[in-house]
Amino acid sequence: MRLSTIFWLVLAPALLPAGVSAREPELHRPPPLESAPQDKYGDLVRLGYAIVTDTPNKASRYSGNKLSCSNCHLDAGRKPNAAPYWAAFVAYPSWRSKTDRVDTFDERVQQCFRYSLDGIPPAFGSIELTAIAAYAHFLARGLAVGTETRGRGFPLIGKTGLDPNRDRGRVVYREHCQVCHGEDGGGQTGIPPLWGFGSYNKGAGMANVETAASFIKANMPLGKPVLTDQQALDVAAYMNAQLRPPDPRHGLLSIFR
Ligand code: HEC
Ligand code: HEC
Repeated sequence: MRLSTIFWLVLAPALLPAGVSAREPELHRPPPLESAPQDKYGDLVRLGYAIVTDTPNKASRYSGNKLSCSNCHLDAGRKPNAAPYWAAFVAYPSWRSKTDRVDTFDERVQQCFRYSLDGIPPAFGSIELTAIAAYAHFLARGLAVGTETRGRGFPLIGKTGLDPNRDRGRVVYREHCQVCHGEDGGGQTGIPPLWGFGSYNKGAGMANVETAASFIKANMPLGKPVLTDQQALDVAAYMNAQLRPPDPRHGLLSIFR
């Protein structure tokens, strides 16, 4: 081995500031809405923002419940680890086992309308889909298309060795969630319902205990997520054991699953 090789092998790592070599890629910073241009594109971007933050009113023809997209895609779809739209936009078209095909971004949005909003998928070319895509496109400015971006989706919870348990979850709910989301899970002004007929249906991503637990662990209680993996799994099991609209693919009886 050459002397210079030995130098680089032994000394170079020591010269790096601690943590540099293992550093994750920078988080994307989506541009502020105010920087959207004053033209047709900017108008669509602003409409998309209005729809995702006030879905029951701004997309009333398609929305079926009380939720806005931004109740789950936090900070109007800007927040990393809360399924941000910028990371989603560049990740499609993508294979989905839920549909057994390669879905486009518009198709993915249609699915959140059908399940998360317990509504009707907006038609291709509708102003609602067009505006949401423009908004997501704007947030993703500077990101490479077809890539997996840091901050996408929710950080997945690993196996804890214990099954999710709704009785333990009820205790977590009372201590950490009830003050905002209410004893009956129905929410209150400014706080969305977690169950009941104003909430997401049984086919939604959030109706899956692991997915909900991952969202909760990273984001709830809002602003100061403090739960352990197990507490997040337990409270997700409790929340998803309550009554909510049926999965439109499986008919009314799916309420009881
Ligand atoms: C300080 C009040 C507060 C607390 C405490 C809180 N949340 Fe939330 N939660 C919110 C708000 C507000 C939103 C909507 C966020 C938005 O629109 O920006 C939300 C959204 C949600 C959502 C997604 C939207 C929906 O209705 O399905 C879930 C799921 C959720 N919270 C679960 C929980 C769980 C579980 C706990 C307890 C571990 C909890 N939250 C504690 C305020 C709170
Ligand atoms: C009840 C909560 C909830 C609501 C309301 C909701 N979504 Fe979602 N959305 C989810 C969950 C959960 C996922 C799956 C995230 C994952 O698996 O990583 C998701 C995924 C997505 C994705 C794909 C993200 C990715 O990285 O692949 C897009 C795009 C999306 N939603 C758009 C929307 C839009 C637009 C609306 C409103 C019309 C909406 N969602 C309403 C919960 C919700």
